[in-house]
Amino acid sequence: METINIGIVGYGVVGAGVAKLLKLKKQLLEARTGALLNLKTIADIDIETDRGIELGETALVRDAMQVIDDPDIDIVVELIGGDTIAKDFTLKALENKKHVVTANKALLAGHGNELVRTARLNQVDLAFEASCGGCMPIIKSLRESLVANDINSMSAILNGTCNYILTKISQDGSEFEEVLKKAQELGFAEAEPSLDVDGHDTAHKLAILNSLAHGMEINLENIHVEGIRNITPVDIEFARDFGYTIKLLAISKIHDEHVEARVHPTMITKSNPLSHVDHSMNAIAIDADATGKTMLYGHGAGMMPTASAVLSDIADIARNIIAKTKRRVPILGYPEENIRPIPILPMAELFTRYYLRFEAQDHPGVLAKISGILGENQISIKSVHQKGRQSNGKVPVVMISHRAKELWVQTALSQIAATDSVVGEPVVIRIEEDEQD
Ligand code: HSE
Repeated sequence: METINIGIVGYGVVGAGVAKLLKLKKQLLEARTGALLNLKTIADIDIETDRGIELGETALVRDAMQVIDDPDIDIVVELIGGDTIAKDFTLKALENKKHVVTANKALLAGHGNELVRTARLNQVDLAFEASCGGCMPIIKSLRESLVANDINSMSAILNGTCNYILTKISQDGSEFEEVLKKAQELGFAEAEPSLDVDGHDTAHKLAILNSLAHGMEINLENIHVEGIRNITPVDIEFARDFGYTIKLLAISKIHDEHVEARVHPTMITKSNPLSHVDHSMNAIAIDADATGKTMLYGHGAGMMPTASAVLSDIADIARNIIAKTKRRVPILGYPEENIRPIPILPMAELFTRYYLRFEAQDHPGVLAKISGILGENQISIKSVHQKGRQSNGKVPVVMISHRAKELWVQTALSQIAATDSVVGEPVVIRIEEDEQD
């Protein structure tokens, strides 16, 4: 049986999971790939901490170059994260003609095009199933299983931290900061949570999926990103009254000349299956022309679910090596020469429905003033709701719009904010329409 040597760079939670799964599933992996997957070396700056894994013959070293420069290693698994040192190591590994497996969405979203070019130049593979949605086989689905489909749209919950926080606010009526603190104490949220709660982690994943779905270069820069810091129990309660749930969604839709790609809190109806994806779970719904709707659901993070995705890449590359082939499936799902520059729709051009909440002065004529400004900006209101008068003389007014252009809405909101009819910033949450809307 052919031996394939693997080196891991980064022995954190996922690195330990990959090492554990390689050892635990040795026989199954041999039976399924026809290869002996030998974990030759692991590199990490911390080689003292006991990860509780019996490494046997595997060497544990401090210097990543002992993996990257080792002529016997076939596959380098990059599990450091971030896009500084991880980028240097990944480029060096590709230049050394190693196949690279990575779980690093920040690296791919920021530098994926360069990595793909480097892999092509050196005729090696670059695989990243674990970068989006943890164990959900979304990369393979887009690259291979849906090959005969045009992807019309994707909507996804891709950040477990945000989904956990939104679920808890919704269930307990607690404020964002309180839930975040609890989530950090329980180890669900990072000590530095901004990458997750401000939506950037989701945007990294969307940049990758967008490219695979539509055959375009990875474009993170033009994705509109909003996080969940401003979501309050009041909005969740209003949403519930209207039959909506609020989720942080990654949305991608193809149009004739451009693609919509945006990340923001979104109201969806209870009939949308994504509204039932709770706690730290992830899910992606894909609407493709031949298949119709399909959906994946699973753990978006965690030691073993992520390790499972990394192993699927290792097994793919091992099978290629056994078959004496490589680069069988293009890295971004299309041969590089077929990847087109598809522009992302500027957010101001978006048409959708809106939930607008104002903290209005409780005076005669205030509602007429707000509606008047909305009307002057071509925004048609579907319904208006007002919750009881508050002791401070303010009253929350919620309006649900028909389809309107983002530019009109933003213009109207700044005009309304400049009047003395409202206090504070209006709250805007976009509504993802059901097909019948
Ligand atoms: N931080 C991510 C999340 C997991 O909360 O889902 C890794 O992508």
